Amino acid sequence: MSGLFITFEGGDGSGKSTQAELLSEWLVARGRTVVRSREPGGTELGDELREIVLHRRGHIAPRAEALIYAADRAHNIATKVRPAVERGDIVIQDRYLDSSVAYQGAGRVLDPDEVRGISLWATEDFLPDLTILLDLDETIGRERLDAGNKRYDRLEAEKSDFHARVRAGYLALAEAEPERFLVLPATDPIEGLAAAIRERVSSLLQ
Ligand code: TYD
Repeated sequence: MSGLFITFEGGDGSGKSTQAELLSEWLVARGRTVVRSREPGGTELGDELREIVLHRRGHIAPRAEALIYAADRAHNIATKVRPAVERGDIVIQDRYLDSSVAYQGAGRVLDPDEVRGISLWATEDFLPDLTILLDLDETIGRERLDAGNKRYDRLEAEKSDFHARVRAGYLALAEAEPERFLVLPATDPIEGLAAAIRERVSSLLQ
């Protein structure tokens, strides 16, 4: 059986983790070995980097921030994701390089193509077989976040025009690589979304 690398993308509050979990359960029920990962995080080193990049107080220079995400990504791919895919496992991951392009690119300080280039260098050009983008109006995302009582990370604390640029960045990425992306409206019912995702993943299973 061939391995697969599937990533979930979308704004904060778009329901990525819920759908990643449902897909994972479905694949396990079909006898596949599923490895879950996330960025930032996913490895022990990654969890330390996550704490720095999301919750450290004080300013982090934009290029430093982009490089921390890239360092986390390099380690996650080299030590966890690539070996799993090569074993024939299915890796389901919350966020990947498209997050860097959409979020670090949305700050208007860094060039999105350069941000992507750093991630490709970090991962030796490792791209997902499928990326599911749960597209969400940023005002709804904010309402969902406010309804929970999680502590905000430094990105979630950004103003709504930043999140509108993140969303536009994601949609542009999906348009540029239609074969890799499945774009779904995050406001659809959970079960309908899960079914659409299963259908697309089925076509990749062998
Ligand atoms: P996430 O783990 O989805 O947050 P939570 O578990 O709190 O829902 O993502 C944390 C934040 O990291 C999110 O606001 C987007 C940001 N991020 C980037 O800015 N660049 C990146 O490359 C990645 C992977 C995440």
